[in-house]
Amino acid sequence: MRSNLATASLQSKVLPTLSVIVAGTGNVGAEFLRLFQRQQQRLANQLHLDLAGVFNSRQALLAPALDCNDWQGALASGENYQQAELLAYLASLPSPKVLVDITPSQTFARQYPAFIAAGCHLISANKQGVTLPGEEYQAILAALKPQQLNWLSNTTVGAGIPVQRVLQELLQSGDQIRRISGVFSGTLSWLLCSYDGSKPFSEFVLEAQALGYTEPDPRDDLSGKDVQRKLLVLARELKLPLELTDIELMPLLPAGAERGSWQDFWAKRADLDAWLLAKYQQAVAEGKVLRYAACLSLQPECVKASVQLVAVASHDPLAALAPCDNMFVIESDWYQQNPLVLKGPGAGRAVTAGGLHADLAVLAQNVILSSQR
Ligand SMILES: NC(=O)c1ccc[n+]([C@@H]2O[C@H](COP(=O)([O-])OP(=O)(O)OC[C@H]3O[C@@H](n4cnc5c(N)ncnc54)[C@H](OP(=O)(O)O)[C@@H]3O)[C@@H](O)[C@H]2O)c1
Repeated sequence: MRSNLATASLQSKVLPTLSVIVAGTGNVGAEFLRLFQRQQQRLANQLHLDLAGVFNSRQALLAPALDCNDWQGALASGENYQQAELLAYLASLPSPKVLVDITPSQTFARQYPAFIAAGCHLISANKQGVTLPGEEYQAILAALKPQQLNWLSNTTVGAGIPVQRVLQELLQSGDQIRRISGVFSGTLSWLLCSYDGSKPFSEFVLEAQALGYTEPDPRDDLSGKDVQRKLLVLARELKLPLELTDIELMPLLPAGAERGSWQDFWAKRADLDAWLLAKYQQAVAEGKVLRYAACLSLQPECVKASVQLVAVASHDPLAALAPCDNMFVIESDWYQQNPLVLKGPGAGRAVTAGGLHADLAVLAQNVILSSQR
């Protein structure tokens, strides 16, 4: 009798709905959608999670109550769309609603102000929005505030590793961050953990390319620019008014090697091999190992940020890194002599899609709580 009453009261309860619109159906986007039903079921007693849009750069499915197990076929036969249609559709959806950006596009990220004007919360795996020039980035934050909308971007650095969330918790509990250092690129981590001087470094680069660890032109990884962007994301998490150009960058390439075609570069790969062998031999002679590290140091009145090849001693946390892993070493008032270390896979479709669902779960909890007020 009692349980019948409980069931009846649950059925009569009107659950809040959160509409989810997914931009990007590639590697990570497809996995995010594969996991969507599990999230729907997990929240079923508290919230109706409605898949209300799926689109990529070509086609769009813009309708509520989409079937998350059957979006591929429907999208493939879907219509081409115009940006104006997308914006009108987003504006027409009832709040709360969230746009999940799983594209790599800066052009797309530059439209965040329009998505916010349409009433959308934002979840980004795409780093481009959080690393826009300071003025544009601040304009996005300013647009979110009056509408009380959230922007979650935990997967932009370290994929599923909750580094931004940990930084926020430390700050909210009164700690002061002094230094963040680490290895933020799984590709460069693999290359430098694997390189042992037994064969030319360029052969390790070829192997990483064959394993699918690198960008199509591996110099995009070796340039260090992606790591520079990730360090900017963390600096902004700490509310530091930094720009990309404020972060000193030393590529994992000899001077000038980033210019010209891949073929030109490959013809001169002996320069890269000799350059890195010399660095490696010097490190070994000092009992150290090579790592491609990012470092943000917050001293009173002075912030220093750099991304570079470093040689670290065996007791340094960065020395104990597994190939492909990322590591974040956080030093603060409470973690001084013994820093807080987060490590694990910093890329991959499963962990990144999982991290996006973690961001979605945070937003869903906010919606549930505000519906109970
Ligand atoms: N892969 C990882 O391990 C990882 C880890 C952390 C973060 N991320 C980030 O997650 C994002 C997605 O990565 P991914 O590996 O899934 O990339 P991907 O496989 O290349 O997929 C990208 C998707 O974005 C769509 N797209 C591109 N430009 C668009 C636009 N202007 N409007 C709408 N859709 C657009 C593409 O559309 P088409 O299908 O039409 O080309 C494609 O569906 C990137 O920002 C990446 O940096 C990835």
